[in-house]
Amino acid sequence: MSADDDKKAAARRALEWVKPGMRLGLGTGSTAEKFVAALGDKVAQGLDVVCVPTSERTAAQAAALSIPLTTLEDTPQLDLTVDGADEVDGALRLIKGGGGALLREKIVAAASTSMLVIADGSKLVDRLGKFPLPVEVVPFGLGATRILVGRALSDCGIDGAPVILRTDTEGAPFVTDGGHYILDCACEAIPDAEALADALVAIPGVVEHGLFLGLCDTVVIGAGGETRVLTA
Ligand code: A5P
Repeated sequence: MSADDDKKAAARRALEWVKPGMRLGLGTGSTAEKFVAALGDKVAQGLDVVCVPTSERTAAQAAALSIPLTTLEDTPQLDLTVDGADEVDGALRLIKGGGGALLREKIVAAASTSMLVIADGSKLVDRLGKFPLPVEVVPFGLGATRILVGRALSDCGIDGAPVILRTDTEGAPFVTDGGHYILDCACEAIPDAEALADALVAIPGVVEHGLFLGLCDTVVIGAGGETRVLTA
Protein backbone atom coordinates (compact mmCIF):
# COMPACT_ATOMS: atom_id res chain seq x y z
CA MET A 1 0.00 0.00 0.00
CA SER A 2 1.40 3.39 -1.00
CA ALA A 3 0.94 6.68 0.85
CA ASP A 4 -1.43 7.60 -1.96
CA ASP A 5 -3.59 4.53 -1.24
CA ASP A 6 -3.57 5.43 2.46
CA LYS A 7 -4.67 8.99 1.71
CA LYS A 8 -7.46 7.65 -0.50
CA ALA A 9 -8.61 5.23 2.21
CA ALA A 10 -8.74 8.03 4.80
CA ALA A 11 -10.57 10.30 2.35
CA ARG A 12 -13.21 7.66 1.62
CA ARG A 13 -13.67 6.89 5.31
CA ALA A 14 -14.29 10.59 5.99
CA LEU A 15 -17.52 10.34 3.99
CA GLU A 16 -19.00 8.57 7.05
CA TRP A 17 -19.10 11.95 8.82
CA VAL A 18 -20.91 13.69 5.96
CA LYS A 19 -24.70 13.85 6.29
CA PRO A 20 -27.33 15.21 3.87
CA GLY A 21 -27.91 18.93 4.23
CA MET A 22 -24.49 19.62 5.76
CA ARG A 23 -22.50 22.79 5.19
CA LEU A 24 -18.92 21.65 4.58
CA GLY A 25 -15.47 23.18 4.45
CA LEU A 26 -13.26 21.64 1.80
CA GLY A 27 -9.52 21.50 2.54
CA THR A 28 -6.52 21.84 0.26
CA GLY A 29 -3.71 19.45 -0.65
CA SER A 30 -3.26 16.01 -2.14
CA THR A 31 -5.31 14.24 0.58
CA ALA A 32 -8.14 16.78 0.63
CA GLU A 33 -8.23 16.48 -3.16
CA LYS A 34 -9.09 12.78 -2.78
CA PHE A 35 -11.89 13.65 -0.38
CA VAL A 36 -13.29 16.22 -2.82
CA ALA A 37 -13.20 13.60 -5.58
CA ALA A 38 -15.06 11.08 -3.39
CA LEU A 39 -17.56 13.75 -2.35
CA GLY A 40 -18.11 14.60 -6.01
CA ASP A 41 -19.19 11.01 -6.64
CA LYS A 42 -21.70 11.23 -3.78
CA VAL A 43 -23.05 14.55 -5.04
CA ALA A 44 -23.49 13.02 -8.50
CA GLN A 45 -25.55 10.30 -6.79
CA GLY A 46 -27.79 12.93 -5.17
CA LEU A 47 -26.11 13.93 -1.89
CA ASP A 48 -27.27 17.42 -0.91
CA VAL A 49 -24.45 19.53 0.63
CA VAL A 50 -23.05 23.03 0.20
CA CYS A 51 -19.33 23.65 0.49
CA VAL A 52 -16.81 26.41 1.14
CA PRO A 53 -13.43 25.70 -0.50
CA THR A 54 -10.18 26.72 1.26
CA SER A 55 -8.29 27.64 -1.92
CA GLU A 56 -8.76 28.58 -5.54
CA ARG A 57 -7.34 25.16 -6.41
CA THR A 58 -9.99 23.31 -4.39
CA ALA A 59 -12.70 25.65 -5.69
CA ALA A 60 -11.78 24.74 -9.28
CA GLN A 61 -11.80 21.01 -8.52
CA ALA A 62 -15.14 21.17 -6.71
CA ALA A 63 -16.73 23.30 -9.44
CA ALA A 64 -15.56 20.83 -12.10
CA LEU A 65 -17.32 18.07 -10.12
CA SER A 66 -20.53 20.17 -9.85
CA ILE A 67 -20.26 20.28 -6.04
CA PRO A 68 -22.47 23.18 -4.88
CA LEU A 69 -20.27 26.00 -3.54
CA THR A 70 -21.03 28.84 -1.18
CA THR A 71 -19.05 31.49 0.69
CA LEU A 72 -18.60 32.37 4.34
CA GLU A 73 -20.53 35.58 3.59
CA ASP A 74 -23.63 33.60 2.55
CA THR A 75 -22.98 30.66 4.88
CA PRO A 76 -20.94 31.90 7.84
CA GLN A 77 -21.35 28.77 9.95
CA LEU A 78 -20.30 25.34 8.76
CA ASP A 79 -20.96 21.89 10.20
CA LEU A 80 -17.77 20.11 9.23
CA THR A 81 -14.44 20.84 7.57
CA VAL A 82 -12.45 17.98 6.07
CA ASP A 83 -8.79 18.80 5.43
CA GLY A 84 -5.33 17.27 5.31
CA ALA A 85 -2.36 18.14 7.52
CA ASP A 86 1.41 18.15 7.35
CA GLU A 87 1.81 16.95 10.94
CA VAL A 88 -0.59 15.72 13.63
CA ASP A 89 0.47 15.10 17.23
CA GLY A 90 -1.17 13.02 19.96
CA ALA A 91 -3.23 16.00 21.17
CA LEU A 92 -4.56 16.51 17.61
CA ARG A 93 -2.55 19.68 17.22
CA LEU A 94 -1.52 20.27 13.63
CA ILE A 95 1.02 21.89 11.36
CA LYS A 96 -0.63 22.92 8.10
CA GLY A 97 0.23 25.14 5.18
CA GLY A 98 2.61 22.99 3.15
CA GLY A 99 0.36 23.79 0.20
CA GLY A 100 0.19 27.47 1.11
CA ALA A 101 -3.53 27.62 1.93
CA LEU A 102 -3.19 27.91 5.72
CA LEU A 103 -5.00 31.25 6.11
CA ARG A 104 -8.22 30.22 4.36
CA GLU A 105 -7.92 26.74 5.90
CA LYS A 106 -7.83 28.22 9.38
CA ILE A 107 -10.66 30.69 8.71
CA VAL A 108 -12.85 27.88 7.37
CA ALA A 109 -11.93 25.46 10.19
CA ALA A 110 -12.68 28.12 12.81
CA ALA A 111 -16.12 28.66 11.21
CA SER A 112 -16.89 24.94 11.50
CA THR A 113 -18.44 23.05 14.39
CA SER A 114 -16.06 20.18 13.71
CA MET A 115 -12.74 19.73 11.91
CA LEU A 116 -11.88 16.29 10.59
CA VAL A 117 -8.32 15.72 9.39
CA ILE A 118 -7.49 12.97 6.94
CA ALA A 119 -3.90 11.79 6.53
CA ASP A 120 -1.59 8.91 5.83
CA GLY A 121 0.37 7.45 8.73
CA SER A 122 3.53 9.45 7.98
CA LYS A 123 1.83 12.61 9.27
CA LEU A 124 1.53 11.34 12.86
CA VAL A 125 4.34 12.71 15.05
CA ASP A 126 5.32 12.63 18.72
CA ARG A 127 6.32 16.27 18.64
CA LEU A 128 5.45 19.01 16.14
CA GLY A 129 8.15 20.83 14.22
CA LYS A 130 10.06 18.51 11.90
CA PHE A 131 7.90 19.82 9.05
CA PRO A 132 8.92 23.46 8.48
CA LEU A 133 6.30 25.71 10.06
CA PRO A 134 4.71 28.02 7.45
CA VAL A 135 4.13 31.61 8.57
CA GLU A 136 2.06 33.80 6.21
CA VAL A 137 3.28 37.42 6.10
CA VAL A 138 2.43 40.61 4.24
CA PRO A 139 5.02 41.55 1.59
CA PHE A 140 5.48 45.05 3.08
CA GLY A 141 8.28 45.01 5.62
CA LEU A 142 9.32 41.46 4.81
CA GLY A 143 12.92 41.90 6.01
CA ALA A 144 11.84 43.31 9.35
CA THR A 145 9.10 40.72 9.83
CA ARG A 146 11.56 37.94 9.10
CA ILE A 147 13.85 39.14 11.89
CA LEU A 148 10.91 39.33 14.32
CA VAL A 149 9.79 35.81 13.38
CA GLY A 150 13.33 34.54 14.08
CA ARG A 151 13.28 36.35 17.44
CA ALA A 152 9.91 34.79 18.33
CA LEU A 153 11.35 31.36 17.59
CA SER A 154 14.38 32.05 19.83
CA ASP A 155 12.14 33.35 22.61
CA CYS A 156 10.28 30.02 22.44
CA GLY A 157 13.47 27.97 22.78
CA ILE A 158 14.02 27.37 19.05
CA ASP A 159 17.50 28.75 18.37
CA GLY A 160 19.09 29.28 14.98
CA ALA A 161 16.17 27.94 12.95
CA PRO A 162 16.42 29.04 9.30
CA VAL A 163 13.46 31.26 8.32
CA ILE A 164 13.18 30.81 4.57
CA LEU A 165 11.06 32.78 2.12
CA ARG A 166 9.06 30.25 0.09
CA THR A 167 9.61 30.57 -3.67
CA ASP A 168 7.81 29.23 -6.73
CA THR A 169 9.36 27.13 -9.51
CA GLU A 170 10.76 30.30 -11.12
CA GLY A 171 12.48 31.44 -7.93
CA ALA A 172 10.03 34.31 -7.34
CA PRO A 173 8.30 34.59 -3.95
CA PHE A 174 5.38 32.17 -3.65
CA VAL A 175 2.19 34.24 -3.39
CA THR A 176 -0.80 32.88 -1.46
CA ASP A 177 -4.44 33.18 -2.54
CA GLY A 178 -4.61 36.19 -0.21
CA GLY A 179 -1.63 37.93 -1.90
CA HIS A 180 0.82 37.24 0.94
CA TYR A 181 4.23 35.57 1.21
CA ILE A 182 5.20 32.53 3.29
CA LEU A 183 8.20 32.14 5.59
CA ASP A 184 9.00 28.47 6.25
CA CYS A 185 10.57 28.04 9.70
CA ALA A 186 12.80 24.99 10.03
CA CYS A 187 12.19 24.49 13.74
CA GLU A 188 13.01 20.74 13.88
CA ALA A 189 11.09 20.58 17.18
CA ILE A 190 8.60 22.96 18.80
CA PRO A 191 8.82 22.70 22.61
CA ASP A 192 5.73 24.85 23.33
CA ALA A 193 3.34 25.21 20.38
CA GLU A 194 0.88 27.45 22.27
CA ALA A 195 3.62 29.91 23.30
CA LEU A 196 4.99 30.03 19.76
CA ALA A 197 1.51 30.59 18.29
CA ASP A 198 0.98 33.53 20.66
CA ALA A 199 4.41 35.01 19.87
CA LEU A 200 3.87 34.78 16.10
CA VAL A 201 0.41 36.39 16.01
CA ALA A 202 1.79 39.29 18.06
CA ILE A 203 4.06 40.30 15.14
CA PRO A 204 2.31 42.98 13.05
CA GLY A 205 3.50 41.66 9.66
CA VAL A 206 2.35 38.11 10.40
CA VAL A 207 -1.08 37.32 8.94
CA GLU A 208 -1.35 33.73 10.22
CA HIS A 209 0.76 30.69 11.01
CA GLY A 210 0.40 26.99 10.35
CA LEU A 211 -0.10 25.86 13.95
CA PHE A 212 -3.72 24.67 14.26
CA LEU A 213 -4.29 24.32 17.99
CA GLY A 214 -7.64 23.27 19.47
CA LEU A 215 -9.36 23.23 16.08
CA CYS A 216 -9.23 19.57 15.05
CA ASP A 217 -11.43 17.11 16.96
CA THR A 218 -11.16 14.01 14.78
CA VAL A 219 -8.38 12.46 12.69
CA VAL A 220 -8.73 9.59 10.24
CA ILE A 221 -5.39 7.93 9.53
CA GLY A 222 -4.93 5.61 6.58
CA ALA A 223 -2.09 3.12 7.04
CA GLY A 224 -1.34 -0.26 5.49
CA GLY A 225 -4.74 -0.55 3.84
CA GLU A 226 -6.65 0.20 7.02
CA THR A 227 -8.05 3.33 8.62
CA ARG A 228 -8.17 4.29 12.26
CA VAL A 229 -9.87 7.16 14.00
CA LEU A 230 -8.36 9.42 16.68
CA THR A 231 -10.59 11.75 18.64
CA ALA A 232 -9.83 14.63 20.97
C1 A5P B 1 -2.39 23.14 2.42
O1 A5P B 1 -2.08 24.46 2.70
C2 A5P B 1 -1.96 22.28 3.55
O2 A5P B 1 -2.36 22.70 4.80
C3 A5P B 1 -2.36 20.83 3.34
O3 A5P B 1 -3.59 20.55 3.89
C4 A5P B 1 -1.35 19.99 3.96
O4 A5P B 1 -0.12 20.48 3.50
C5 A5P B 1 -1.50 18.52 3.64
O5 A5P B 1 -1.24 18.32 2.29
P1 A5P B 1 -1.15 16.86 1.69
O6 A5P B 1 -2.44 16.21 1.89
O7 A5P B 1 -0.84 17.11 0.22
O8 A5P B 1 -0.02 16.19 2.39
